[in-house]
Amino acid sequence: KKIVLAYSGGLDTSVILKWLKETYHCEIVAYSANIGQDEDWDKVREKAWATGADEVVIRDLRDEFVRDFVFPMMRANAIYEGQYLLGTSIARPLIAKEQVNVAHETGADAVSHGATGKGNDQVRFELTYMALDPELKIIAPWRIWDLNSRSRLIAFAKEHGIPVPVTKEKPYSMDANMLHISYEGGILEDPWAEPPKDMFLWTKAPEDAPDEPQYVEITFEKGDPVAIDGEPLTPRKLLQRLNELGALHGIGRIDIVENRFVGMKSRGVYETPGGTILRIAHQNLETITLDREVVHLRDSLIPKYAELIYYGFWFSPEREALQALIDESQKDCSGVVRLKLYKGTCQVVGRRSHKSLYSPELATFEADEVYNQRDAEGFIRLQGLRLRMRAMLQNKLGAE
Ligand code: ARG
Ligand code: SIN
Repeated sequence: KKIVLAYSGGLDTSVILKWLKETYHCEIVAYSANIGQDEDWDKVREKAWATGADEVVIRDLRDEFVRDFVFPMMRANAIYEGQYLLGTSIARPLIAKEQVNVAHETGADAVSHGATGKGNDQVRFELTYMALDPELKIIAPWRIWDLNSRSRLIAFAKEHGIPVPVTKEKPYSMDANMLHISYEGGILEDPWAEPPKDMFLWTKAPEDAPDEPQYVEITFEKGDPVAIDGEPLTPRKLLQRLNELGALHGIGRIDIVENRFVGMKSRGVYETPGGTILRIAHQNLETITLDREVVHLRDSLIPKYAELIYYGFWFSPEREALQALIDESQKDCSGVVRLKLYKGTCQVVGRRSHKSLYSPELATFEADEVYNQRDAEGFIRLQGLRLRMRAMLQNKLGAE
């Protein structure tokens, strides 16, 4: 009877809006989430009405995005396949969660999205819908209709009076939010083809970044960044500031081939300026504040944690269980990290903490009070016991 569509204002979701109306003859709520993408929200609202929406809902989710999604993920230094900082993956569950809320508020019984049948995003949207309201009906037009080519889509748009942008379409697909911009598809599908220089909308090319390095200090409390150069900032403001610094200095570009959940390999180019700085800083503060075994254990779980975010299982019992362990590991992760930003690089040049476990007295080669070097002899002898036994056996058998 009523469908909430995750609507971006672009051509695809405009076509979907019309198509849903035509196919299901019901009311459509156009729902858009502001998670920091560069967008004229008045225009989006206008467009939704003009395209035939019965209700239009625009939600500003920027604070929640950074505080409740990006930061918890950053406490883990999460990274997918060793390279991807999960900028799109972490945004989908929030967009979908709010979409479920909007469905409840507007009395809708179905939700719909514009993700294709070949990607990760469909999975992330739908797993979230299911986790939060198993009763909602899910409609994924890309898996149903026959508008499967660009020309068919444009023909449908023209037939239905949906304005098709006159500006030439970008030859790749983008997704943007406060954490990153992603580019994939189109001309990027050739993994040997270098992206055109003017593709990057956010970060300066490292070679065009300032010739002078810039220093910045980030203060953390229990694993979350809380201030920059001593100035306390809200999560959103803080990430925004780091994004500006990172963008200026050309930090956070990657060009990778990744494994999608549905099975295919996909080439993606990403810019994550603030997130890249934050991850480096946080990881380095952990080097002085976390116990060795706690970091090693936590780190061993991170490929799994990142994979589960990438696959769309943010709202799952396993993510919550891991998060509890991750958050527990952060209770002493407070202090300051000093960084030097320069032409695409972000180097740690200092770290301090009142909770620091680092002890110059212990590491020094001078006095010997807490640490008795003689203890090391027995320690090593017992560590080597198995190795000695094995070597002795090999010698004996070899001699036979
Ligand atoms: N490959 C990345 C991911 O799966 C980015 C996806 C971008 N999505 C998009 N609709 N353009 O997280
Ligand atoms: C899409 O297919 O809708 C975007 C790419 C992805 O979800 O991985």
